[in-house]
Order: sequence, then structure tokens, then C-alpha cells
Amino acid sequence: MTEESPDIETPKADVAAEPATPEPPAEAIAASAPQVEPAGEPPLLRIEGVGKSFGNFRAVDRLSLDIRAGEFFALLGPSGCGKTTLLRMLAGFETPDEGRILLGGNDIAQVPPHLRPVNMMFQNYALFPHLSVRDNIAFGLKRAGMARAEIATRVAEMVSLVRLEGMEKRKPDQLSGGQKQRVALARSLARRPQVLLLDEPLAALDKKLRESTQHELMELQRRLGMTFIIVTHDQEEAMTVANRIGVMNAGRLEQVATPRDLYEAPHSRWIAEFIGDVNLFEGDAGWRQGNRLTVAIKDGDTITVGEPRQPVTKTAVCVAIRPEKVKLSRRGPVSDAANTHAINRLEGVVSDVGYLGGLTVYKVKLDSGIVVRSSMANTARLNMDGYLVGQRVVAWFTPDDCMVLEQ
Ligand SMILES: Nc1ncnc2c1ncn2[C@@H]1O[C@H](COP(=O)(O)OP(=O)(O)OP(=O)(O)O)[C@@H](O)[C@H]1O
Ligand SMILES: [Mg+2]
Repeated sequence: MTEESPDIETPKADVAAEPATPEPPAEAIAASAPQVEPAGEPPLLRIEGVGKSFGNFRAVDRLSLDIRAGEFFALLGPSGCGKTTLLRMLAGFETPDEGRILLGGNDIAQVPPHLRPVNMMFQNYALFPHLSVRDNIAFGLKRAGMARAEIATRVAEMVSLVRLEGMEKRKPDQLSGGQKQRVALARSLARRPQVLLLDEPLAALDKKLRESTQHELMELQRRLGMTFIIVTHDQEEAMTVANRIGVMNAGRLEQVATPRDLYEAPHSRWIAEFIGDVNLFEGDAGWRQGNRLTVAIKDGDTITVGEPRQPVTKTAVCVAIRPEKVKLSRRGPVSDAANTHAINRLEGVVSDVGYLGGLTVYKVKLDSGIVVRSSMANTARLNMDGYLVGQRVVAWFTPDDCMVLEQ
């Protein structure tokens, strides 16, 4: 059997990476806890002011980021924002124009891809069509000159890790999409890289399979104690698998935070709109009372918000509130009277009802003309309590559920 490369770049990645550090025995790997270094430790991977242009186009713009050992880090961002370019620089397939990439404190600029303890799994899997599952997984190990017996052991270990027992002799065209994905994963893990880069690894899978594979990936990452950096278009996927998420836009990182902080405390209007669904009210910051700030929105309505973490410096602000935090009621909030004066109420008419199974999303057209979305969990099967199009309602929410963002 020949090992010529198909006309794709991917297999280069598999030639990559005999780890520079000695490999721990398999038992040690299996037993290692899913530890993330404490925040004070030096990072495993430090990206320092890295930039990359193609002609006049700046694909990655002086980006800096630290990744700790044992992290499952996700990169999110719109198409063309530079995610793949960043991963390719980490893997060594692209050279930064500026900046440094440090792994364990050492600059890896001069280290060729196949000598970096970093491996990249490409989106299209790019398995060798003429090689069996076993030989696809063994490919990089053979290239690295690993002894036959050791290769056999390692391949068996990988096949069992990704649960492909019994399929070792099949060719890629005899596998389902999900099985191919596992072969690609096994192949990229076979050499036990310190850092595994995954570029949209689950994009080709259907929703159910993607969800189960996400959990398998998390389980694998924990068991192997490895550092994963995943690129995905799917926000829920990023939130499910990652400890931290970096949101990229136009070659830069807009925000790096835990999934919860990204959703509940976005730094900018752009992030608030990019992550999840949000209601935005533009207005002017008005008076303060205690830890409350009042914002005047269109047509005389006001919204009272909790004092933002960052003091507001501009007058023009934007109040953001997630739809699940907006409640509807026929008469207005019925919570305890002492607090009612602080609760925001906006009156309007239900203009649309979207039933999504677990949730129902209501659109309420306020008297000011603004449309507010409210989503409610359908917690009972026989819930007769919904609202109907045309019904007059009060949309209400608490100040602390609002986020104030500068426009
Ligand atoms: N080799 C190249 N030559 C010229 N332009 C390139 C090259 N590689 C990438 N680009 C451009 O750089 C920008 C960033 O590309 P990149 O592939 O990193 O985006 P991405 O964030 O991975 O997008 P997607 O989510 O669509 O995969 C794009 O505008 C792309 O067209
Ligand atoms: Mg890409």
C-alpha cells in the first residue's frame, strides 16, 4: 500500500508532532485528572501580538491570548474573521508576520509543524481514501518511525478510545460521517500532542450526533488531560464544551470569558448581539439613585437598570436584556409589593407567537413601536396559559437582569 498524499493539505498535520516532552505511559494518561492550571501559573500557550496579512488584508490583527494547560478553549466568530488562520499559525502551517507564539515558555517560530507538540484536525477530516481505518490512524506514527509493535498497541488504544472496534479494516467510504469524524479524531490524537487544534470538527454531523460527540470530546479531553482549542460556528457547542471562549471579529479578540460571562456580561453591544438572542433598547443615560441608573428610551419610556460594572461614560447607551428574562403578564408583575416600583414594565400587544417545543417566543409590540421578545419555557405539557396574538400585555423585567452597554 502506498502512502502518497491525496491532493489535500491535511495529512501534513498528521505527520506533525512527536511530542518534545517524553510521553507519559497510557495508564498515567488515563488516570490524570482534568486539571486546569491555576490562573497564577504561566500559560502553556502564549500568543503575543501575533499578526498575519494576506496581501493588504489583515487576517489576524496583533492578537494576544494565553491558554492554560488542560483548558478546553473555543474560538467563535463570524466567517472570515481569522480563526483558521490563527490555528494554522499555532500548528506551524502559516508563519506570523509579527508577534510570538510561546509553548511552555519557548518561542516555536522556528519549529516546523511536524516537530511541534501540536496537532490540527481539519474540518473536512481528509482521511486517506485508500487506507483502512487502522492505517489512517497509524499514518503519523509510521512517519515518525515508531516501532511496529508500539504502533499496533497505540492504534488499538485509539480505536477503543473512539469506539471503532471491529471497523479497523474498513476504508473511509465504508464509514458514516460520524465514524469518519472519529477516525480523524483518533488520527490526530494518536501522537498524543500537548495541544490539539480542532477546526470545526463536528460541522458535518447532524444535531443528535453532534451533541453526543461533543460529550465524547469533553470526556476524552478530561481523560487525556490535554489542551484542546476548538473552532466552531455553533455557539451552543462552544458553550457546551469549553471552559473559556474567545470571540473573534475582524482578526481581533473582542472578548475572552467563560460561557456564562459572555452571555450574562458581554463587553460590547456587538458581543451581546453575536452571542444568543437579545433585546436592545437605545437611549440616554439619565439620573442615578443608589445603585440604580435610569435610561430614557424612545417615546418617553424609561428603563431602570442595575449600576453597570463599568461606569457609564457616555450619554448614549444601550440597554440589553435577554428574552428569557422578560416576563409577560396580563396585569403586570405580581411580585412582592416592596420591589414593584423598581421593576420595569412596558405595555404592548402580542404581535407574534413562536412555538419551539421547549420554549415559546412571544413578540410584543410596545406602544412606542419597539418590539420586545420574551421567551418562556413550556414547563407543563398541558399549558393553557399562553398569550394570544392581539392580546394586551405587560412585559416586565428587573433592573438587575438588564445590561448597560455603551453604543
Ligand atoms: N492563503 C490565503 N490567501 C489569501 N487570503 C486568505 C488566505 N487564507 C485566508 N485568507 C483570508 O483571510 C481571512 C480569514 O480567513 P480564515 O480562514 O482564517 O477565516 P475563518 O475565521 O476561519 O472563517 P470560516 O469561519 O469561514 O472558516 C478571510 O478573509 C480569508 O479569505
Ligand atoms: Mg475557518
